[in-house]
Amino acid sequence: MLVTSRELLIDAQKNKYAVGAFNVENMDMVLAVLNAAEETHSPVIMQTTPGTVKYAGTDMYFANINAAAKRASVPVVCHLDHGNSFGMAVKAFHTGYTSIMIDGSKLPFEENIALTKSVVDVCHSGCINIPVEAELGRVGGKEDELVNSGNNPYTDPKEAAEFVERTGCDSLAVAVGTAHGVYKGVPQISFDVLAKIHEVVNIPLVLHGTSGVPDEQVIKCVSMGMCKVNYATDLRIAYTYGVKKYMQENPGVFDPKKYGSYGIEEVKRYVTGRMKVIGSCGHI
Ligand code: 13P
Repeated sequence: MLVTSRELLIDAQKNKYAVGAFNVENMDMVLAVLNAAEETHSPVIMQTTPGTVKYAGTDMYFANINAAAKRASVPVVCHLDHGNSFGMAVKAFHTGYTSIMIDGSKLPFEENIALTKSVVDVCHSGCINIPVEAELGRVGGKEDELVNSGNNPYTDPKEAAEFVERTGCDSLAVAVGTAHGVYKGVPQISFDVLAKIHEVVNIPLVLHGTSGVPDEQVIKCVSMGMCKVNYATDLRIAYTYGVKKYMQENPGVFDPKKYGSYGIEEVKRYVTGRMKVIGSCGHI
């Protein structure tokens, strides 16, 4: 069933686990994430960035995720990841996405508030009240066109409390030391910052840049209020690894179903492992 992220994240917050949010690039990845969620009885979020929807359109990704949700025995959310403009967020909302992120984190504080609030006003006004994820602080690394480098400032807890109050957003992505993409070293998560944010923000928190973060750090983040945990890079790596391996062993094959199924298996294995780490298994 297709659901909004609101009910899933509130249950996760109450029961101290996290819902995995997995970036899907094509139908094979949708199938892989669906299979992992069904097998582990996990609620799940499938998400696409603006860069991904530029490839095939929000309607194409929504149709794939919605078809998966219809046949699923677990709740499935179709989420816009890193919505980069008011127009992009509203487009996904009108397409049927059941959860919207507006990422104004690169803007000055007041402008981030204004942009986020404008998206919240639209998403909360329809007959279905669609939840909005916002971001404050700078998650490092590169996601789509968004590059955050340099001093990678952590989210200020005081600002976070004010931001949530003034925007009415439903969940908040915070910068605590993770980065998008492949890590060059071991990520340094500031659990002090996270604890301070958790103390003053009572909506579900979101962890970005989780590919490559050691399991024990992810588990600790979940125990400290991270209710949605995002994975993108490692799914791409897993899919490509499966396809490449099959093609190296079977260079003459030209049926996409043959090599695609190896990509699906690799992504499914990876996602199943993540669901165990974040504690979503058996919650359905
Ligand atoms: P990575 O998979 O690159 O760590 O980031 C995922 C993410 O935060 C998507 O928004």
